[in-house]
Amino acid sequence: MRSNAGELISYLADIVGPRWVKTEPVDLNHYGKDWTNDVNPNPSAIVFPTSIEEIKLIVALANKKKVALVPSGGRTGLSGGALAKNSEVVVSFDRMNKILEFNAVDRLITCEPGVTTRTLQEFAKEKELYYPVDFASSGSSQLGGNVATNAGGIKVIRYGMTRNWVQGMKVVTGEGQLLDLNRGLVKNASGFDFRHLFIGSEGTLGFITELTIGLSSPPKDLTVMLIGLNSMIDTIAVLEAFRNKLTLNAFEFFSDKALAHVVKEYALQKPFDKGCEFYALIEFENTTSSNLDAAQSVFDHCFKCGLVVNGTISQSSSDAKKLWRFREDITSAISKYSPYKNDISVRISQVPSFLSELDELIKRIYPSFEALFFGHIGDGNIHLNIVKPVGLAAKDFYKECEKVTEMVFGLVQKFGGSISAEHGIGVLKKPYLRYSRSKEEITYMKAVKRMFDPNNIMNPGKLMDLG
Ligand code: MLT
Ligand code: ZN
Repeated sequence: MRSNAGELISYLADIVGPRWVKTEPVDLNHYGKDWTNDVNPNPSAIVFPTSIEEIKLIVALANKKKVALVPSGGRTGLSGGALAKNSEVVVSFDRMNKILEFNAVDRLITCEPGVTTRTLQEFAKEKELYYPVDFASSGSSQLGGNVATNAGGIKVIRYGMTRNWVQGMKVVTGEGQLLDLNRGLVKNASGFDFRHLFIGSEGTLGFITELTIGLSSPPKDLTVMLIGLNSMIDTIAVLEAFRNKLTLNAFEFFSDKALAHVVKEYALQKPFDKGCEFYALIEFENTTSSNLDAAQSVFDHCFKCGLVVNGTISQSSSDAKKLWRFREDITSAISKYSPYKNDISVRISQVPSFLSELDELIKRIYPSFEALFFGHIGDGNIHLNIVKPVGLAAKDFYKECEKVTEMVFGLVQKFGGSISAEHGIGVLKKPYLRYSRSKEEITYMKAVKRMFDPNNIMNPGKLMDLG
């Protein structure tokens, strides 16, 4: 897509004001990428609108001049969904960050898409309510991006993914139409619910310009149990035992190798004197003494059966936070090694057989690379990260890893799983979409894209190529 750059910048400046069109290399580099490793951004400009009207004008201009637009939130994505490599105009939501309305009866917040997850969580807390979608990047990630990728995180086992909390949204489609979808209704059986097409669309259909988000009652006395296991395969038997007796708010896991990185990077004390191969982190509400008794008796039962070998339980919220760090800080602890990331899922009941085949495959094909297993195992979601050996060039490392990707994704396909459980397809996983979605589904996805975005101006080259 071509356009006279100077002319384009001046049209954009007419819409948002000259101060809010940035073309300095430092801005292009900063706003042209997300947290994905090894990318070289090359946008032509970054634009910062403040209203739906301005977004409509930007979309109209882009359609007229055939310019590609990349929606940009907190840029915490890990699949290159917000990457601008081909002279696109990046549309940042940094200035559309206001909470517009709160309704206590409806338990709904209406806000602009640039509000961060943390801001929403804190606002809900002030109102004695709770926004349950949570992850390590919640301080930076923006709601528009969360919705565009249907973000998951650490509480999905109890509260579901972002999709579950989107009660309404306004969008400007790639064609330039403003749609007001579902309007905060609880019940609405009036035909196709387009909300759900925009959730997880990775910015390929249009801009999410306003969101109405549901809130829940806050959990009480969250208590964390960290348990040591000898085998990752046993984790699901432990999950089942706990779930039969308790409502769980989280069920996460990580390997001792992953823990070692966190302990070293942040100079923490290991949770147990004697290490275990794997750990499960279990969170539940400790509202009655019977919950605590139930947790203890399940633990004892699992211990007797040889499923668990060690355990500790938080006595206070600060204890709970400390235990969470072992899991939540893995990504930041290993980021300096530019790991090759996998974000895969299978049905929960399939996790044990899937993991044993995956482990065997990884040992066979990555003999010299360090493989770290961790993730939201209670949701069937495994983040297999391969650590780059010091001294090996990133390019060569990724090339080696990519050789294995087809085999890992082949296994995911065999189990009917997903190649992306929560990070999205973006550019990194695009070549492999067929491992999770059928030919027919991809054909329909392309048709939907063409309907909302006939000139392919919305985040082209992400999720799928129109061909
Ligand atoms: C996490 O759950 O920690 C992240 O989504 C995983 C990752 O960074 O690979
Ligand atoms: Zn995750």
